[in-house]
Amino acid sequence: MSFSLFRASVRTAVTSGSLPRAQLRNQLRNSIRKFSTPPEAPAPKSNTTLYVGIGAVVAAAGVAFYSFSDSGSNAVKSGVQAAKVKANFVPTKEDYQKVYNRVSGIFDDAGDYDDGSYAPIILRLAWHSSGTYDKESKTGGSNYATMRFAPESGHGANAGLNVARDLMENIKQEFPWISYGDLWTLGGVAAIQEMNGPKVPWRPGRIDGVQAQATPDGRLPDGSQGADHLRQVFGRMGFNDQEIVALSGGHAVGRCHSNRSGFDGPWTFSPTTVTNDFFNLLFDEKWVWKKWNGPKQLEDKGTKTLMMLPTDYVLVQDKVFKKYARAYADDEALFFKDFAAVCAKLFELGVPTAQWVTPEPWIMKNADEK
Ligand code: HEM
Repeated sequence: MSFSLFRASVRTAVTSGSLPRAQLRNQLRNSIRKFSTPPEAPAPKSNTTLYVGIGAVVAAAGVAFYSFSDSGSNAVKSGVQAAKVKANFVPTKEDYQKVYNRVSGIFDDAGDYDDGSYAPIILRLAWHSSGTYDKESKTGGSNYATMRFAPESGHGANAGLNVARDLMENIKQEFPWISYGDLWTLGGVAAIQEMNGPKVPWRPGRIDGVQAQATPDGRLPDGSQGADHLRQVFGRMGFNDQEIVALSGGHAVGRCHSNRSGFDGPWTFSPTTVTNDFFNLLFDEKWVWKKWNGPKQLEDKGTKTLMMLPTDYVLVQDKVFKKYARAYADDEALFFKDFAAVCAKLFELGVPTAQWVTPEPWIMKNADEK
């Protein structure tokens, strides 16, 4: 039985009154404890924690089965992980740190790809999996990792993210117990931290969803628009003007690809290092409309090697946005502080509070930190 079916049937049984509530709760607790809690561990505090545990085990068991048919060293590692899952493995912070370290280890495998790092595109995967959140309907966000499913995987805004999803799939096979949502957002945290950015508080608890939970097209921002669009899209996620500007500073890293979004080029001269240069360049360079056949974008008059999207440029045109952009250009520490906070908030969108395995987010160590 799938996790959601299991949960639904439990809910129906409880609400239909076919058994006394206390009896049902006990039956449920006993049956769950059998395969989600190691004998020596204390009983989890809430049923939600139990359900999440079951979800993780069920999801992980499916992947573990798949991993066994894998070949080479991955298969051996997957086998170890699968054995842990079978032994009612409950991951600790150290286990998540191992995943963090593993993700960090692939950033530099990029070779000739882009600027020699996969970190920017992995950050983009984390952001796009979270930025679909709608605070009114409480749908979307990082909880169910629905970008795995069509049509969301094929939405125009997600063009090129198959590269990041494929990289993460390899890691998922090595650590089948982690949910995709936790893996992708932990990847985003690792990307920021390993590109010299701030520490981004993070905690696990997302569960894998199903295709029916995928979000409709059009929830992510369109780079060719203006201030109203930014406020509408990010407002729907629950962000204010200051947070919109801080989040936009993510464009310190990475680049646009003409065969993906249509736009072309990097925003800064150091596209694999988190800095406040995105804001400095917005103020210090003279930006002119690029003359080309592609979509409307700006280029720096001096070198013609950098770019800004219309949605980036609006941060120095709109009076309120500009105030925050100026503050971040003047003070990198302030940008780092606000960027960390807003990314932590972004990556948690759509996850019900009861699902978190810890009340306070963790600070993950950098890969080279003792
Ligand atoms: C403000 C609204 C935003 C718009 C309109 C926007 C738009 C875009 C576009 C068009 C690209 C180029 C995609 C490609 O051609 O490969 C891109 C890349 C990127 N975006 Fe954004 N983005 C926004 C916000 C963000 C946020 C909030 C973050 C993270 C905090 C972010 C991080 C990135 C990164 C790291 C890349 C580079 C990916 C790569 O190098 O492959 N963006 N964005």
